[in-house]
Amino acid sequence: MTLQDILSNEELRRHEFPVTKDKIFLAHAAVCPLPRRVSEAVAHYAMNACTDDQETGMLEGFMSDSRRAAAQLLNCKSEEIAFVGPTSLGLSFMAAGLPIRKRDNILICFDDYPSNVYPWMKLAERGVEVRLMNMKHWGHLRSVDIMGQVDENTRAVVMASCHFVTGYRLEIEKVGRYLRERGIIFGIDGIQTLGAFPTTVEFVDFLAADAHKWLLGPCAAGVLYVRRELISKIEPPVYGWHNVRCPNFVAQEQIVLREDARRFEAGSHSLLSIVGLRAAMELALEIGPDSIGRELLRKRSWLVPALQERGYTVLNADAKAENASGIVTIFKPGADMGALHAKLTENKVVASLRVDRAGQRYIRFSPHYYNTDAELQRAVELL
Ligand SMILES: Cc1ncc(COP(=O)(O)O)c(C=O)c1O
Repeated sequence: MTLQDILSNEELRRHEFPVTKDKIFLAHAAVCPLPRRVSEAVAHYAMNACTDDQETGMLEGFMSDSRRAAAQLLNCKSEEIAFVGPTSLGLSFMAAGLPIRKRDNILICFDDYPSNVYPWMKLAERGVEVRLMNMKHWGHLRSVDIMGQVDENTRAVVMASCHFVTGYRLEIEKVGRYLRERGIIFGIDGIQTLGAFPTTVEFVDFLAADAHKWLLGPCAAGVLYVRRELISKIEPPVYGWHNVRCPNFVAQEQIVLREDARRFEAGSHSLLSIVGLRAAMELALEIGPDSIGRELLRKRSWLVPALQERGYTVLNADAKAENASGIVTIFKPGADMGALHAKLTENKVVASLRVDRAGQRYIRFSPHYYNTDAELQRAVELL
């Protein structure tokens, strides 16, 4: 199935993406609806699991194939992939276990999503200097600002691949190359681009991303990537039968951890969610991250001027292609954004309402590749 197939065949689109039957869903930066394939994969597994224990009916190689699919999406090795659940958990594991010492500093963005702020803030209790990045414009993760705010004591920089409100997309490779040359660990919260834009990790040391947004997978079915060379240097904050050697399930006197990214998977896997994640990753690979990214930018290039013509201010409106994303966020001084959001909801257009520290409310649109131009047009008309 190609993007073109979906956008040129309404019957197919409605079949594959059942949400399109009665809603215009433009909130993929929040929590996505499941495509039929993903939903059916989970249902099928759940039915099979009624007839035996939940693992026995599983296809042989299921976990290794799932790791391979994640590795293909991220362009890394299967052994660098762990399935530990939500983004917050993956990032917390990294923050708790990274070799960061007293008086080192780390650079984060205070206005990133809290999942990528709190685990790092907590390090201040260990004497680590937690630097909050200065931004020229709110929510703009500019490479120049990041690169200009590290020094010889910076141990790690951890950023979102795309800001969840402004939609400013980070230039991962550019920043990553700069940091790698200086031996600084580079971590990414990848949830706002995985499944939307190519999100590859050649110059990244770790990345956590759940599936429930652009990847069109279940909640808490996340991927954690950790660069091979770093795995053994990170002390996992969790221990169990799966990540510590225990022949025949007999506890040993020594704790011997696995050497690959399974080091961070302490116990049983959430098979139900990984089945859904796998189906979602296969769908994203079938459509192709490059095509998806191009299509999201095409939609944005229509949506931004259409909203501006109606008097709305669009955040990050003038972004270069490499800093633009599928997130289009608007406000209008003096307008009741809450009421406008309610109007959209009443008319079965799903968008998100977000607020900044000063209390300004915004409507955030985050259409995916399967949304049509007519759907976007309808949303704009309602505004
Ligand atoms: C940038 C970002 N990170 C993380 C999350 C969610 O994290 P989790 O997967 O832990 O629920 C969100 C959700 O809105 C987000 O926008």
